[in-house]
Amino acid sequence: MTEAAPHPVLVAPSLLAADFTRLAGEVAAVEAAGADWLHLDIMDGHFVPNISFGPAVVKALRPLTRIPFDVHLMIAPADPYLAAFAEAGAQWISLHPEAGPHLHRSLQTIRGLGCKAGVVLNPGTPAEAVAPVLDQIDLVLVMTVNPGFGGQSFLESQLPKIAALRRMIDDSGRDIRLQIDGGVTARTAPLCIAAGADVLVAGTAFFGAPDRAAAVAALRGGAA
Ligand code: DX5
Ligand code: ZN
Repeated sequence: MTEAAPHPVLVAPSLLAADFTRLAGEVAAVEAAGADWLHLDIMDGHFVPNISFGPAVVKALRPLTRIPFDVHLMIAPADPYLAAFAEAGAQWISLHPEAGPHLHRSLQTIRGLGCKAGVVLNPGTPAEAVAPVLDQIDLVLVMTVNPGFGGQSFLESQLPKIAALRRMIDDSGRDIRLQIDGGVTARTAPLCIAAGADVLVAGTAFFGAPDRAAAVAALRGGAA
């Protein structure tokens, strides 16, 4: 049995699935639809096999909305760019342990920049990877696809890891969000929530929906 998530479920649309010819309108639509955070996927063509956008785009979008910016770094090394993303207006910055040799130091740097810090676990990375840094993080992100692309299928093999992290977080007594990213839809959201997730990233399921407010409600409520 898993315990109920301690936070209300938040929805963070991933801009990766937006229409890049009209980013300003897409960001406005995220807030208008009642979503909670904007998830910004930063890819370098090296850590993951795709390239997206960098801090200049994050900075340009920041004045367009008041919702928190949740920056997911899929870059290696990440350390040289942490300050640029903080200065661009990120509230949350998350990175993968595989991005560098000094995870603890990177997390300290993020917090030192005034941001919330997160650790991202690839499908092949165990829950235990965050145990030594629980006192340095505000968020754990469980990838339910291999990072690099939107529109992939949800990996149900990750559900036990989500449940294990929920237990680890609850046992720690710390205020740490448990976020899921990849293939999250109205069908898979209830699985994530039942396992203990409290932040759901959704690219295709948000930007591809004809009614985005309904998509947020369906994801948040776990409705089919
Ligand atoms: C994948 C990214 C995801 C992606 C999710 O590397 O981290 O945030 O945009 O896209 P969907 O929701 O379509 O799986
Ligand atoms: Zn992401």
